[in-house]
Amino acid sequence: MSSDNSGTQLVMNPHIQELHDQRKSKGHGIPCFQHDGVCLFMPSPEMLKGSRPVDRINSIKEAELKDDDIVICAYPKCGTHWLWEVIEMLISGTLQHQKAVKETRMFEFLYKEGIEAVPPRRVFNTHLPLRMLPKQVVEKKIKCIQIMRNPKDTCVSYFSQIRDMVPPYNYQGDFADFTEAFMLENIPFGSYSTYLQSWKAEVAAAPELPTLDMYYEDMKMDPVKAVKDIARFLGLASSNKFCEDVADACSFKKMKKIDQEMKSGLPVKIWADGSGGTFYRKGEIGDWKNWFTVAQSERFDQIWNKKMKDFGFEFTYTLA
Ligand code: A3P
Repeated sequence: MSSDNSGTQLVMNPHIQELHDQRKSKGHGIPCFQHDGVCLFMPSPEMLKGSRPVDRINSIKEAELKDDDIVICAYPKCGTHWLWEVIEMLISGTLQHQKAVKETRMFEFLYKEGIEAVPPRRVFNTHLPLRMLPKQVVEKKIKCIQIMRNPKDTCVSYFSQIRDMVPPYNYQGDFADFTEAFMLENIPFGSYSTYLQSWKAEVAAAPELPTLDMYYEDMKMDPVKAVKDIARFLGLASSNKFCEDVADACSFKKMKKIDQEMKSGLPVKIWADGSGGTFYRKGEIGDWKNWFTVAQSERFDQIWNKKMKDFGFEFTYTLA
């Protein structure tokens, strides 16, 4: 994937709060700002266009939506790129991969004016909680799909991304440090457990909002069924054969190849030069076993299960 805006410079100003709790083994932090209880990546000056980050994020709430917009909601690294490509194929009725990257449809890159400028039919995506999305998501009953993934693979995938990002966003602590931050909110988009709790509570408060909850692992184990479920939720009359073809065209191998060969248009430079950073790393269930020690894994389970036991999320951690 190519990217253009090299040399992203962050001018230190009062809105930047480095995440000090991450300053452990290598004294590194990620520039973030705090908004409505959530840590968010500090936008680069070209994204801010002279505005305050909080005002930019708040502008999203006022964006006008179209009745047939679709929104993918997900915590980072749960499979947004995959789901976005599947939905784009389903609604276009073709097996054409998007040339653009899904970041060109991401609320937190677009803000109000960018959201309104996207031509129909629009498939947006976001890592923000429902309360920070355009108010019209709820008012217009916009179809929302939530994709979730087991938290250990999510943690590994997030660490791998953030480690490879362009300075000053690159995380230089080790995996153990990152895992602690992942569990304790000190990370862009907050902790995954809090994200899921908020999703559950905010959807419950908007009972007429049409939502579909999906799991990365289910999609991985039976992609054709997942594609059919999505088509049904979107009210599309996609044939079985077309759903099979979409699942195949969006396999990890094919999407990785397409990403390298034809994707372009990242709104900001994301990967550090020479890092080999990619949104298509391994695409597997259970890679976490190669990262967590037994002790780390047990501590993770303890903290996660204590916080999430009453919320009803069922995750698959390994292939049967
Ligand atoms: P890994 O880092 O474990 O490989 P997101 O799109 O939300 O950023 O999530 C990225 C994760 O989804 C990465 O996980 C990536 O490899 C995986 N992924 C992307 N496309 C995929 C596909 N077609 N099939 C399976 N996994 C995919």
